[in-house]
Amino acid sequence: MKIPELKTKHLLSIADLSKEEIIKIFNFAVKLKKDIKRGRKHKYLSGKTLGMIFEKSSTRTRVSFETGIFQLGGHALFLDSSDIQIGRGETIADTAKVLSRYVDGIMIRTFSHSNVEELAANADIPVINGLSDRTHPCQALADLFTIYERVNDLTKVKLFYIGDGNNVANSLILGASILGMNISAACPEIYSPDKEVLDKAAQFSLYSGAKINITPDIDKAAQGADFIYTDVWVSMGQEKELKKKKKILAKYKISVNTVEKCAPGCLVMHCLPAHRGEEIDSEIMDSDRSLILEQAENRLHVQKAVMCALMR
Ligand code: CP
Ligand code: NVA
Repeated sequence: MKIPELKTKHLLSIADLSKEEIIKIFNFAVKLKKDIKRGRKHKYLSGKTLGMIFEKSSTRTRVSFETGIFQLGGHALFLDSSDIQIGRGETIADTAKVLSRYVDGIMIRTFSHSNVEELAANADIPVINGLSDRTHPCQALADLFTIYERVNDLTKVKLFYIGDGNNVANSLILGASILGMNISAACPEIYSPDKEVLDKAAQFSLYSGAKINITPDIDKAAQGADFIYTDVWVSMGQEKELKKKKKILAKYKISVNTVEKCAPGCLVMHCLPAHRGEEIDSEIMDSDRSLILEQAENRLHVQKAVMCALMR
């Protein structure tokens, strides 16, 4: 099977990819997943190095990228932003230019999305967004892949996001609208997903046929949902808003009651880390409806496909 060819040099947002490109990434990830489970390793990225800049904490992103490139014959460098000179004022542009002389790709997890864009604008090598305040494309790709593994036709299912209209919600809405998957989001009005993201998703849906419904009304958003998804109420960097967000978001959670509002057999998703008892109850998280660990595992397989496509 051929490594997918992409028009984009970087993965800053899932909107950098077309529907056909996402499906090619998924099919390549299916192959990589099957192969690694059979003990078959590849050397697609032999001798290549990925620099991973982290301004925020991570378990899944760090471990899946590092393990992923190792399984492909390459090597990863963990660069905590407080240990490198960015933390002492070296510019992102200078960092991008210098790293381009050493490594073959950069993954960055940061606060402002403009940092990801600035890094990409100044790097000669591919840049992958490992989460910004606005988007989390690698997460959405792994989540949509988890659905893709289960359904024959992505345009026939409905994904329902409940909770804070954050970076993960933004990326899921963009991804679904590109793929033609119906998506609803129940979020309190002040925590609605990003306006620019919604405008872009509306444009994508014109040709993909995706139905997008953003509403504060949980009952309406839940109707007919095949998959229900949530994420933490307080994202990294928003710790000061904890009290206010917990109060406003209190009913925007996955409980037995919310799942009962969805289609029968609805499956449960969460990008992790979870705050059990807040945005999701343990009895649902640990139930046989949960795809949550599958999603976490799929970060590995999908990111391997993305790295092959961008860094080969
Ligand atoms: N879902 C996710 O990105 O997890 P980490 O914050 O642990 O990387
Ligand atoms: N919305 C969360 C996702 C963590 C993977 C955050 O940004 O902290």
